[in-house]
Amino acid sequence: MAETMSGLKRTCYCGEFTTEKIGQEVTVAGWVQKIRNLGNLIFIDLRDRSGVVQLALDDGTDREIFEKAASVRGEFVLAAKGVVRQRESVNKEIKTGEVEIYLSELRILAKAQTPPFEVTDQTNVKEELRLKYRYLDLRRGPMQNYIAVRHKIAKAARDYYDKNGFIEIETPMLVKSTPEGARDYLVPSRIHEGKFYALPQSPQLYKQLLMLSGFDRYMQIVRCFRDEDLRADRQPEFTQIDLEMSFVDEEDVMEVNEGFIKHVFQTVLGMDVQTPFRRIPYSEAMNRFGSDKPDTRFGLELQDLSPVVKGCGFQVFSGAVAAGGSVRGINVKGGADQLSRKEIDKLTEFVKTYKAKGLAYTRLASTGESSSFEKFLTEEEKTALRNAMGAEPGDLLLIVADKNAVVFAALGALRCHLAEKLGLLDKSKFDFLWVTDFPMFEYDEEENRYVAMHHPFTSPKLEDLDKLESDPGSVRARAYDIVMNGYEAGGGSIRINDPELQQRVFQAIGLSQEQVENQFGFLVNAFQYGAPPHGGMAYGLDRLTMIMTGTENIRDVIAFPKVQNASELMTSCPSPVEEKNLREVHIQVLPEEK
Ligand code: AMO
Ligand code: AMP
Repeated sequence: MAETMSGLKRTCYCGEFTTEKIGQEVTVAGWVQKIRNLGNLIFIDLRDRSGVVQLALDDGTDREIFEKAASVRGEFVLAAKGVVRQRESVNKEIKTGEVEIYLSELRILAKAQTPPFEVTDQTNVKEELRLKYRYLDLRRGPMQNYIAVRHKIAKAARDYYDKNGFIEIETPMLVKSTPEGARDYLVPSRIHEGKFYALPQSPQLYKQLLMLSGFDRYMQIVRCFRDEDLRADRQPEFTQIDLEMSFVDEEDVMEVNEGFIKHVFQTVLGMDVQTPFRRIPYSEAMNRFGSDKPDTRFGLELQDLSPVVKGCGFQVFSGAVAAGGSVRGINVKGGADQLSRKEIDKLTEFVKTYKAKGLAYTRLASTGESSSFEKFLTEEEKTALRNAMGAEPGDLLLIVADKNAVVFAALGALRCHLAEKLGLLDKSKFDFLWVTDFPMFEYDEEENRYVAMHHPFTSPKLEDLDKLESDPGSVRARAYDIVMNGYEAGGGSIRINDPELQQRVFQAIGLSQEQVENQFGFLVNAFQYGAPPHGGMAYGLDRLTMIMTGTENIRDVIAFPKVQNASELMTSCPSPVEEKNLREVHIQVLPEEK
């Protein structure tokens, strides 16, 4: 039977030992990282969440304790008592490397099987295996750090918003399903046959209703659920730091939230962030960076060449402009000598994954000029284009012609790809900005109607209201996103508080009176009873943690994440349930139609 802690009390964490503790009697507890048995000497590295400390035994150690130590293996759980002393061979790699604990007592609290992978800080074990044994993976130092930073961010958020008069209010997890937005996760009702709850995609409607109830400043750290296709920075369930404020405009929301970012970077990373942040309208972000969440830590900005090439002899260029698209390029300064023809071919393959049909280039290398398209241009056209791009010897000009959406997506991604490839990224730097003036609507080709780009409760810009019916595509929203290092860390808007305007927006996205009544009747009704002007935003806590810890994998900052196909590998969920459980909730599973 395993031993107990009885009579022993932990006095220190393993990572706390420095020469200051020499001579003290201490008790530690943790997992065996490593054991070295040299016959008459035994060294055990003991790990807990704070770090590793060396336990030492020698000829002078009680025989029973010595033999017990000799039986210990990796990941056994131990409690150990002893006196701290100077180490003979100092380990400069670790914080506690100058000292060791000379044991006078040892307990084996639990034995452990050989783990499926070694629990070490650095690892190249496949992520699937790590996720299957997530509890072991989480013992690793970097994982402990990600989770601890996440906690600190959440705590900093609660502290900051509390200090600024926000109160945390919980909103329901079983809510009404509404078709606007991403796909809902549905929960069948047992009591109401054929009826379903949805898990919330965000507390949006509830927090607006709380403003109507007079809570004035609300915040919540809240789980959200969206059944969408996963990407590197998305999870089906994720956490928002969500907030809403009454009697405010954009400036108020931005100011409070710049204060939050300042606070969280100061308390968690000890970093001083300069506020206010830059503001860039959506159209400028797209034109300059090809993205509404631009990474602004480097240049490589896009240039619009459409006016220069619209009448030129290269059909790919002139044709794209004639069809309502555009021709845009990036001048990679000094890139001609850094990137070979072969590498340009790889860049071409890269932009094709964003649906570009090709990548036109001019390479002004010191060994000679080459171009994939200049042969189709007259001398004047060629000069005009090079001038427009500010081309100089050594430069590499990369150009895409297509529909705007494709040009922006391809060049926006290419710019980030190049920055990475050419080492233009200072990864220790953080860059913050607000992207504002988003379009209110985007056209959904599949549904053949406009849909709200943010959500239909976002207020249009007042100066654009007269275009709501005549030209919805040009109406801008009172929405803003906070962007950091190429990630959308958060976003929000000033909401509609006028029931008539809300009706007009519902009409603009093609909702019939009946649909409005069914889906949002409670909201429309509530807004008849005095809704204050209000607005707010929500951060992705997972994304904020990714950005602040520097990992590019959202799963790293979530204790028990899901993988690409939305399953969780440790518990194997989702999983089938018993027929009787299905019957209880009135569900019959039909095979997928072929
Ligand atoms: P939005 O949909 O922009 O706004 O979400 C806010 C923030 O949540 C994060 N986020 C995600 N993080 C991980 N995985 C996902 N699948 C995921 N989806 C979103 C992003 C994003 O910026 N109710 C509004 C906010 C408001 O208007 O107040 C909302 O949910 O960081
Ligand atoms: P082609 O005439 O097809 O050999 O194309 C000449 C060059 O134009 C090649 O470098 C192609 O990659 C490039 N190209 C083709 N289509 C496009 C496009 N839509 N935008 C930019 N470059 C393109």
